[in-house]
Amino acid sequence: MPGTGNGSPPPPGPLQFPGGLDAGAFLAGYWQRRPLLLRRALPGFASPLSAEELAGLACEEGVEARLVLERCGSRPWEVRHGPFAEEELAALPEDHWTLLVQDVDKHLPEVGRWREAFRFLPDWRADDIMVSYAADGGSVGPHLDEYDVFLIQAEGRRRWLIDPEPASAADFVPGLDLRILAEFQARETHLLTPGDVLYLPPGVPHWGIAEGPCMTWSMGFRAPTWSELSVAWCEHAAEHGLPAGRYRDPGIRPQADAGEILPEVLATVRETLRRGLEQVSAEAFGEWFGRFVTESKEHLEVFPRPDPTTPPELRKRIAGARGLVRNGFSRMAFARVGAGDHMLFVNGEAHELPARHGDFLSLLTAETALPRESLAPWLTKPACLNLLCRLYNEGHYELQR
Ligand code: SIN
Ligand code: CO
Repeated sequence: MPGTGNGSPPPPGPLQFPGGLDAGAFLAGYWQRRPLLLRRALPGFASPLSAEELAGLACEEGVEARLVLERCGSRPWEVRHGPFAEEELAALPEDHWTLLVQDVDKHLPEVGRWREAFRFLPDWRADDIMVSYAADGGSVGPHLDEYDVFLIQAEGRRRWLIDPEPASAADFVPGLDLRILAEFQARETHLLTPGDVLYLPPGVPHWGIAEGPCMTWSMGFRAPTWSELSVAWCEHAAEHGLPAGRYRDPGIRPQADAGEILPEVLATVRETLRRGLEQVSAEAFGEWFGRFVTESKEHLEVFPRPDPTTPPELRKRIAGARGLVRNGFSRMAFARVGAGDHMLFVNGEAHELPARHGDFLSLLTAETALPRESLAPWLTKPACLNLLCRLYNEGHYELQR
């Protein structure tokens, strides 16, 4: 449980930037622009996860895992998808393969707690911590990613070859399971050892090769494409902003050329759609966006409790426990969408809370473990207790005994 006493380690401190930089200067000068190497950037970091534990996770149902075999599979750069059988992992050769597991932060709280170091960026932008274990020489080849990533060296050593200029277009080697760059020129190389972090913006060609067995964590950030956003927004606006019913023919006259779509038809349709999309209020827009960006991956579903409880009963239970702890699969953010109400978004659902309780939403989203003492002042406010009870019954919280 992250930093809640009883011998648990203190919460991770913020990411340590190299000389003279702070989070603001990093965001202004490097974020989404240029790579940055951060040596010893996570004080106190020691991987809480062994290669065996990662392999165990990769064998579980509901865990997204891949194996990349550079030259020891049935074809070059073969990709196999989990869940794996233990025997398959045990039969891997000495070198040139990588096991990659997504969302380890959600499956293992002791990994998830390290997300705290990156909270100078908003939670809604964060995606997951992917953990990879590579045998000597293992890599996923020269490639580029569409997302920002902090590559954390967790164990062993990995040499990163990078071309710091983001590529605007790239050719890939045809016929492979992976998108391997057809051309890659390393202009910088960095050897990372435990606790070192390499930040890469989207589109920067890179190639990380294990020097001996090693483990790397990738703290990745989500960024929806404008086309994904506009499809989702139009769907929402269609339900909430556009007039009901169908296209009609105002002012229609006999048409000389029945084959033509008249300019006034195009203008009417365009204007109606434009007005419809604009008519959605700022509150409704905020609600849609918050729901959209907190949606979780399908296989990371949170299930409601089979034994729902009442707000007064939950209050009693919390009083007799250490507090509450958030389900690792619950993705949260809040927004001050209107003067009267604030909104909490949890896995694509929106919950309103009167603005005067705004700090309660800060508390819920800031901490994954909520000690009973921090919760106590809020539990006397019915709106806060009811919201917490709803989240508890939906499976987003467990009692911490
Ligand atoms: C890895 O961890 O092996 C690959 C990470 C990356 O290159 O994005
Ligand atoms: Co990459």
